[in-house]
Amino acid sequence: MRVLVIGGGAREHAICKAVCDSGGELYSVMKNLNPGIKRLAKDCFIHNETDAEKVLEYALKKKIELAIIGPEAPEEAGVTNVLEENGIKVASPSKEAAEIETSKEFMRNLMEKYKIKGSVKCRVFSDAEMAKEFIEMLDGEVAVKPIGLTGGKGVKVAGDHFNSIEEAVKYAKEVIEKKIGGHSKVLIEEKVVGEEFTLQAFCDGNAIYPMPAVQDHKRLLPGDKGPNTGGMGSYSHKSGILPFMTPDDYEEAATILQKIVEALKKEGRQYKGVIYGQFMLTASGVKVIEINARFGDPEAMNVLPLLKTNYLEICMAMVEGNLSNKKISFENKSTVCKYVVPEGYGIKPVAGKEIKVNEEKIRENGGLLFYASVNEENGKIYTTTSRSLAIVGIAEEIEEAEKICEKCLQFVEGEHIFIRHDIGKKELIEKRIKHMEMLRG
Ligand code: AMP
Ligand code: GLY
Repeated sequence: MRVLVIGGGAREHAICKAVCDSGGELYSVMKNLNPGIKRLAKDCFIHNETDAEKVLEYALKKKIELAIIGPEAPEEAGVTNVLEENGIKVASPSKEAAEIETSKEFMRNLMEKYKIKGSVKCRVFSDAEMAKEFIEMLDGEVAVKPIGLTGGKGVKVAGDHFNSIEEAVKYAKEVIEKKIGGHSKVLIEEKVVGEEFTLQAFCDGNAIYPMPAVQDHKRLLPGDKGPNTGGMGSYSHKSGILPFMTPDDYEEAATILQKIVEALKKEGRQYKGVIYGQFMLTASGVKVIEINARFGDPEAMNVLPLLKTNYLEICMAMVEGNLSNKKISFENKSTVCKYVVPEGYGIKPVAGKEIKVNEEKIRENGGLLFYASVNEENGKIYTTTSRSLAIVGIAEEIEEAEKICEKCLQFVEGEHIFIRHDIGKKELIEKRIKHMEMLRG
């Protein structure tokens, strides 16, 4: 099957690998040349991924039978819609269905309208004075969020990014005035406290098939300090749940995703593709932090390498609406993924520095390598301002997977790189378990 994958990050490298492992003939549209995808693909078109007309032109020329969209921006730009209108199957949501991610206002309203459990106190404002009243009512214990897409970097949370009502109001005003995320509006949510986890599910418009849960690390620095990033690394456990969760928590999150998919259908926005829930496990159950209309990055790299079922068959089942008839399974293994990012990433990244990657040594030591945003010139790899590459270790237990990941990271050398080494380490995981025990009392 001729398959087009749109996007050029590490998540898309993992998707492309799954496509090739499933027997697909790979084509790619990406804005930067990902060296990993380049090697896997029959052909690459280096172009803006949100240019629906050009993507269509390329897909028609290459006689693409199935398209898969990695990032949210092309979905928002209607790439799915345009491809489908021209007879190409797409295993990703339409622009309308993807609004579950591209508008946090739409997501919260949908949850309220259909009385879906797991939402938080929240309101949208276009007037900073009114936002101030709501922030005061919540004692400043809030998250201040742009409505639209900001690449995971626009949200600020009390205690993490600001420490007073005044600062919260100031940022809310800035979001409105500067139209951060594309709208003159701001979403104020009550701050919820707990442990975050990601649940991704395949979805065919009706049924969902949830994958192993993953914990991402959004904060830049060890110990969960510093600004929010696109994600610095992640882990999963062979049980399918995380060490601080119970099977009931997992079920609760899966039920929320199922209800959201049903609500979207009732709204005439049938959802197909991977749906992603970012949840906070709190003392009073599972709360929704955000819903994404795609695989997570890095979370895709934790689950896709474990997939035992043919990925393209799952994609076709999502497109054709018969996921419930499909037997899907994952290897019962634990995974740890760590990103290598340019020094200063998230603040003032240093681009254009060489990274030496010994691919053979990484392979020999059992690690998986996924390239992200790098430039390759004359066989050498250089950083850009975004995340550079990720290494994944896989083993029975998280501890061993983490060791494999660290071992392989030794074969990525550069004077101007940064890695959050604490991800997947015993100390951090124990801290999370204790935190949850304390909250649950
Ligand atoms: P988002 O882009 O909505 O996922 O937000 C980025 C990060 O901010 C999340 O991963 C959480 O760590 C944090 N966050 C977002 N909303 C809330 C909330 N209501 N309460 C506490 N933390 C939040
Ligand atoms: N890992 C966060 C995201 O993909 O949005």
